[in-house]
Amino acid sequence: MTNNNRPHPRPAHPRRNVAIVGTGSYLPERILSNADLEKMVDTTDEWILSRTGISQRRIAADNEFTSDMAAAAARIAIKNAGIAPDDIDLVILATSTPDTIFPSTACRIQHAIGATGAASFDLQAACSGFLYGMIIAEQFIASHMHETVLVIGAEKLSSIVNWEDRNTCVLFGDGAGAVIMQAAPEGKHGILASDMGADGAQTDILHMPAGGCRMPVTADVLAQKQNTIHMSGKEVYRYAVGAMNASAERSLQLSGLTTDQLQWVIPHQANLRIINSVRERLGVEEGRVILNLNRYGNTSAACIPIALHENCQSGKIKPGDHILMVAFGGGLTWASIVLEW
Ligand code: COA
Repeated sequence: MTNNNRPHPRPAHPRRNVAIVGTGSYLPERILSNADLEKMVDTTDEWILSRTGISQRRIAADNEFTSDMAAAAARIAIKNAGIAPDDIDLVILATSTPDTIFPSTACRIQHAIGATGAASFDLQAACSGFLYGMIIAEQFIASHMHETVLVIGAEKLSSIVNWEDRNTCVLFGDGAGAVIMQAAPEGKHGILASDMGADGAQTDILHMPAGGCRMPVTADVLAQKQNTIHMSGKEVYRYAVGAMNASAERSLQLSGLTTDQLQWVIPHQANLRIINSVRERLGVEEGRVILNLNRYGNTSAACIPIALHENCQSGKIKPGDHILMVAFGGGLTWASIVLEW
């Protein structure tokens, strides 16, 4: 018996500030290096590293699913936040690789971690999904509807990569990152500003054609590998730079901060050249950009929370730091958040 139907009083309180109070991440053990990929497709370590900045990525085990990785990251975030699973009111999972199309993978996670009081849903905004999730969570908490929200970005992209397509298989990896969000402690600002958007005219430049009702999986579809990631790399690249830059500028303007007041930028980890273009346009020095794509590749919705957790744990991110997080993904979608840590 769960208490999913607990009442949600909506007192006429003013909106409150919302902060991250705990982080976690999980990376599968198996490492797939560029040298390994050289044996699988016609590519070289030099090509991959110089075009993308990626040296290796993690690959989940056959019996390890998005829900498993998400639950592992969530357990760490719960511990770091000092809360009990039952304190969680809402579980939002951002993913493009759910365990099943339905029911939601978020429901599996809710059960796995024992968040018996939490409403749960999956969110599909591709690589922007984690920031979309954080912005949604902020609304529930700011409006006093919920106290504690778990937001997770988790992906088993290896399950939808065409391992014979060198254009895409070198880019992606598996992993999960999670945050616990609550009202900001007294005197803290937490999230200062955010921006999110989409351009549905560009659905076909980064997509998985089959698997939904548009193209149910058949033997022909499988033979043509339509149930894998299809991408027009150059077009995605061009849009990514423009959209990330514009969204970051909108959030910065709303926050009232300038780039020189940012201690850290955490960009979506798709490609080092995209990140450097955005960084240069924003006028941020290299040392203030948090990177992990060299080790993990593009883990889509999981990139930003993994990077956030690792750099909180290492002590690089300190209380009071101003952070810009900005992402871009299939849809097309984009989102950014400026926050005070
Ligand atoms: N190894 C070796 N050669 C490769 C290759 C690989 N892994 N992948 C592609 N190539 C080849 C191409 O086939 C092409 O050969 P051709 O000229 O004979 O046709 C050549 O390299 C150049 O391809 P091009 O598309 O011009 O490379 P690029 O400089 O645009 O880099 C990407 C390709 C994919 C790295 C780049 O376009 C990119 O990163 N795009 C964005 C992708 C992305 O971030 N997606 C996720 C967004 S959330």
